[in-house]
Amino acid sequence: MSNGDQANQVTALQQQLAAMQQELVETQRLAALGELVGTTTHEFNNVLMTVLNYAKLGLRHKDDATREKSLTKILAAAQRAEKICNSVLGMARNRKEEFAPTMLQQLVEESLVLLEREMQKYRIAVQTDFSETPAVRAIGNQIQQVLLNLMTNARQAMSDGGTLLIKIAYHKSANLVDLTVQDSGSGIPKEQLAKIFERGFSTKDGPDETGKGGAGVGLAACRDIIEKHQGRVRVESTVGKGTAFTVRLPVFVQPQAAAGAPIVTQLGVPSMGAVVNGQG
Ligand SMILES: Nc1ncnc2c1ncn2[C@@H]1O[C@H](COP(=O)(O)OP(=O)(O)OP(=O)(O)O)[C@@H](O)[C@H]1O
Ligand SMILES: [Mg+2]
Repeated sequence: MSNGDQANQVTALQQQLAAMQQELVETQRLAALGELVGTTTHEFNNVLMTVLNYAKLGLRHKDDATREKSLTKILAAAQRAEKICNSVLGMARNRKEEFAPTMLQQLVEESLVLLEREMQKYRIAVQTDFSETPAVRAIGNQIQQVLLNLMTNARQAMSDGGTLLIKIAYHKSANLVDLTVQDSGSGIPKEQLAKIFERGFSTKDGPDETGKGGAGVGLAACRDIIEKHQGRVRVESTVGKGTAFTVRLPVFVQPQAAAGAPIVTQLGVPSMGAVVNGQG
């Protein structure tokens, strides 16, 4: 085979791989959306019960104080429903495949709205630590997919409750942003750590009672998305103590379009490796 043929074959294989990666991300997105429909339908039912009960209370009691309280509760419930709705619709509708300036803090908040009750149910305290950060260069929808996958994994690793910490930190000198999802759960044994991003690798028996987990595609999709963003992902885990996934993304650089000059978007992300701490 000539060099030219070989080069053509490599290009064809690369295109095939890229298409498969895209397909995996899309399939996983739909699966995550399906899971969210389950969670949010339940949530909506809760909100509806609140509205119904306080509407009845307000009608039963004619005094101003009770009516005021009832209306306040109804308003809060409706606002919660609105937030949930917007988050789900955002995920379902926004399929733009374009890189744009993206505020990570907003994505985290929208994702937490969707998983808030689930965290409460499993006695998981949610903490956030956001430093002032510029927008990153990202496809918002896809980074939200990464966040939901990491947060769901974190929740599943804390079967007896625990703490979920979501941190956003800006590294000014390198002009990049770190998004960390940290749990106080089971941790990952060293021999499994090298495999967790493989498609199909899972230590879960199957979907849990919320219908999530077990396919082994969540982290593979995360890896593909982060690669596409020219970002890096790093894992730190200690068995019995917990795990932290850190996604590093480049800050959005406004293209400097001088008259007639080509547009250059600068990206620079130093590589990060997997780190295992104090394997127990
Ligand atoms: N935060 C975590 N703590 C402990 N183990 C984890 C954590 N995140 C991932 N893992 C391990 O990595 C494996 C692969 O994760 P991945 O999200 O790809 O698949 P999954 O959660 O098993 O299934 P799904 O495709 O539904 O997400 C998990 O089965 C689990 O063993
Ligand atoms: Mg998962």
